[in-house]
Amino acid sequence: MCRMIDGKKISEEIKKELRERVSEMKEQGQERCLAVIQVGDDPASAVYVRNKKKACEYIGIRSLSYELPGETTEEELLDTIKELNNRKDVNGILVQLPLPGHIDEDRVLLAIDPEKDVDGFHPVNVGNLSIGRPGYVSCTPAGVIQLLKRSGVEIEGKECVVLGRSNIVGKPMAMLLTRENGTVTVCHSRTRNLQEITRRADILVVAIGKPKFVTRDFVKDGAVVIDVGIHRNEEGKLCGDVDFDSVAPVASAITPVPGGVGPMTIAMLMANCVEGIS
Ligand code: GUN
Repeated sequence: MCRMIDGKKISEEIKKELRERVSEMKEQGQERCLAVIQVGDDPASAVYVRNKKKACEYIGIRSLSYELPGETTEEELLDTIKELNNRKDVNGILVQLPLPGHIDEDRVLLAIDPEKDVDGFHPVNVGNLSIGRPGYVSCTPAGVIQLLKRSGVEIEGKECVVLGRSNIVGKPMAMLLTRENGTVTVCHSRTRNLQEITRRADILVVAIGKPKFVTRDFVKDGAVVIDVGIHRNEEGKLCGDVDFDSVAPVASAITPVPGGVGPMTIAMLMANCVEGIS
């Protein structure tokens, strides 16, 4: 019988815990403040930014919103980041991606003070994660670890296969599973005999960016399957990188799309804002 891992419920538990923590912090005179920068009017980004601000409001984090026009120059954006780096009252800075084509994303992410980089994208934080030092961790893979732990899935000693090698999900995911004492294999679009490798997984994390790519042929009986993908099909319906109807009958536990990993990303962003570097 396949168990559904309910990311919405778990993310709500986490946000409730954070709300209590922020309330205690306020009693001790401490406040948290997140600056959210969006450049241009990409509709998907606008939805993400709105949800991040709503989560801040619920938890009690002050949010500063910078909605900059699409024509903003790289230098103007860098100036805004510099100003926020220097503000003592701002402890988190987030630049919503993707940025317009004329702006160099790497230069922008490098400009954020690593101590305020609540997205965990700065090379200093990525480096700290890779050598086991404290730092901010990318929110989506951190959310996957919380989903597993809070659903009672043990990672230690397990065969973990990560499908996808992006800087934001696949690579930090592999490092976090290693930190939890999993035995980790990373596969990607050029991997040979892909199904042979994914079928070894006790825990399979899929972040390949292709709708319904993973079918039951990729999955060992009883595996835990975590789907990081999110896509909208021709009828406007959301689906993941995993073909849910095909995989659910062979998995022991699976995340749905929507309502699996998605809500966890914002919850972990909020955790980064509240708890700081951990
Ligand atoms: N765009 C899509 N996902 C993310 C994210 O987690 N953080 C930021 N800053 N931009 C994104």
